[in-house]
Amino acid sequence: MLLIVGSNGLLGRHVVNYFMATGESVICASHGSGADIRLDLRMPIGDVANIIPEHVTHALICSSVTNIDACYRDPEGTRRFNVTHTIDLLQVLLNRSIQPIFCSSDLVFKGDIGNYHEDDPRHPTTEYGRQKQTVEDFLLNQEKPFLIIRMSKLYSLFERDDPSPIGQMLNALRDETVIRCAEDQIICPTCVVDIPHAVNLLLRSKTTGVYHVAAPQQYTRFTLGMRLAKRVGLEHLVQGCSIRDFHFAEPRPFDNSLNVSRFLSATGFTFTTLEENLPRILGSREEFASSNVFP
Ligand SMILES: NC(=O)c1ccc[n+]([C@@H]2O[C@H](COP(=O)([O-])OP(=O)(O)OC[C@H]3O[C@@H](n4cnc5c(N)ncnc54)[C@H](OP(=O)(O)O)[C@@H]3O)[C@@H](O)[C@H]2O)c1
Repeated sequence: MLLIVGSNGLLGRHVVNYFMATGESVICASHGSGADIRLDLRMPIGDVANIIPEHVTHALICSSVTNIDACYRDPEGTRRFNVTHTIDLLQVLLNRSIQPIFCSSDLVFKGDIGNYHEDDPRHPTTEYGRQKQTVEDFLLNQEKPFLIIRMSKLYSLFERDDPSPIGQMLNALRDETVIRCAEDQIICPTCVVDIPHAVNLLLRSKTTGVYHVAAPQQYTRFTLGMRLAKRVGLEHLVQGCSIRDFHFAEPRPFDNSLNVSRFLSATGFTFTTLEENLPRILGSREEFASSNVFP
């Protein structure tokens, strides 16, 4: 049985729904109320080892401070959550012979060349990426089986507060605000609905180790913005620029794209494309309903 740690987050919710729809029961851990297990990773993990039910065999760790700037602003506090307490939890799972599946990120790579393979050297340029790398290192030194899945920008189909670049761009277009989109940053938006299926296939294939799990289609922020804006007839709102024109506390990488051939050969999975998903995304937003009839 699968334990989902962080069952109320974007990914956690989708994993719970997916497995429940397939008739498999799951155990949910969340820092919020109402889950099977209450777990707040801002705090030491305490006696969680005694609370995890006997029949749990795998655990997907979705919990994390995911905001890049928050990690930069509070490296110590976020490290306690994202590294120290997360590793404590992973150690408990490994001691119980529960296989962890750790959600990592394309930001473990430097982001200068793109098309990264699983074994390529990691040189994260952000505190968030360094925190993910430290947890990866802990798992990579274990003899017991584990999975690390590195993902790229996840977007949702129906959630209006989708924090992904797609959700942000659609909000700006709805508000008829100009969007400045970097022509020199490559991203691979991945539909969050695909990830639970991908995880299920990895579990069924009984494979272990590191996998890149991301949709292979690449966009620059500009081509993505134009694609969305064209669809709703608002191209004039999209302005090209450089990612260096934005003054982030930590400069963002240019190209963190992941090579996913290892995952595709292990599972035969086909990611959904943004082109396929756009009608559903726009259809769920009444402000764009009239534009959604156009290709
Ligand atoms: N979204 C992306 O584009 C993306 C890309 C690459 C990698 N990832 C990784 O994928 C994982 C899931 O991302 P997401 O987008 O679903 O995250 P999210 O929506 O930002 O949710 C944050 C996660 O942290 C948990 N959480 C928040 N506060 C917590 C606390 N005090 N104690 C314990 N857990 C807490 C939440 O679950 P509860 O509220 O149930 O506790 C939730 O699972 C993360 O590890 C993230 O780094 C995400």
